[in-house]
Amino acid sequence: MEILTGIPIEKILVDNNCNDVSFDALDKIIIGDCLVVLKKIATDSIDLVITSPPYFQQRDYGNGDFGVGNEATEEEYLENLLNIFSECVRVTKPTGAIVFNLGDKYINGALSLLPYKFAIKAIEDKKVFLINQITWSKLNPTPRQDKRKLIQATEPFFIFAKSKNYHFDLENYLKHLDDLNKSSKSKPSDKLGKQYFELIENSDLEISQKETARKSLQEVILAVHNGEIDSFRMKIKGIHKEAYGGMEGGRNNQIRNNGFTIIKILGNKLKKDLIESPVEMTKDNQHPAVYPLYIIQELIKLLSKENDVVLDPFCGSGTTCVAAKNLKRKYLGVEINPEYVNISNERLKQVTFTQELFV
Ligand SMILES: C[S@@+](CC[C@H](N)C(=O)[O-])C[C@H]1O[C@@H](n2cnc3c(N)ncnc32)[C@H](O)[C@@H]1O
Repeated sequence: MEILTGIPIEKILVDNNCNDVSFDALDKIIIGDCLVVLKKIATDSIDLVITSPPYFQQRDYGNGDFGVGNEATEEEYLENLLNIFSECVRVTKPTGAIVFNLGDKYINGALSLLPYKFAIKAIEDKKVFLINQITWSKLNPTPRQDKRKLIQATEPFFIFAKSKNYHFDLENYLKHLDDLNKSSKSKPSDKLGKQYFELIENSDLEISQKETARKSLQEVILAVHNGEIDSFRMKIKGIHKEAYGGMEGGRNNQIRNNGFTIIKILGNKLKKDLIESPVEMTKDNQHPAVYPLYIIQELIKLLSKENDVVLDPFCGSGTTCVAAKNLKRKYLGVEINPEYVNISNERLKQVTFTQELFV
């Protein structure tokens, strides 16, 4: 299939000897079949891929035979998806991540589990591993008429990485919830940890072990007062029970060898593999399947840094590109349907940097 625009894609679609994509050709949406475009992008050149491919036989995006999702069988759909996924993996840097959002579908009244079939196949050749499967909990799911099924209100976002060296900025993910948590949290009490000092004194630990235990306890109390951690628990030999069935080499060993262990509670309780957001209902957006800008922005904050390159091969109405632009990342979108590219470009024009205040 031919690429339909005059965008100077030759600048970005470099050969595999070149490690970088050319930046002046970024911040564009290319009209075309993503498999064709992906094949021309240099290996290890993209920091983050975030995308939502069409779900199996769910919607007609008007793309005829080239449109993913229109396949006659599940097998063909998965094969097409996996070919595109493996190109996404190839173009991603070793420090990068690939995020695929997929929805499940009822076929003859039974859930197909297609997202999970995809994820299992995606990790089969061991070129990537799954860091997390984040569940999007929809606050306003589509009501169903079927009285013998519950409403489907969740969808997975699979986060894959190519190496253990993937970029992961936990601090910037859902930061607004942290800030909220901190402002609603009362100051730690002056008595924090005092009981442990008494327990150490009354324990059968050796003198040197007691000294180390007191020092470690002081440090961890300070960390709570400084807001570095949320709280902690201490276990002291002869006083607290060892963990039931604990493995050798874990906490039980620390207790046996050092006389104590300290379990730090990091205070990222809100950073679970669950994210809540309504389905986007922007009345001006004519695309039928827009994913939430909020989730995509949070994932971009988690998995990339400013000026990194974010790619969406199934760009639709450009949510990923808008999120990337809001957060000062470079973007590259690919979309087969020119009408959706127009919508994306219109949305992108509206992004001014004052919007950063709200992200
Ligand atoms: C689920 S939508 C993505 C919506 C997008 N996340 C958003 O928020 O607007 C999937 C998109 O993939 C496009 N598409 C389907 N097959 C394609 C292909 N082979 N190459 C590029 N885009 C394709 C469809 O036209 C559709 O717009």
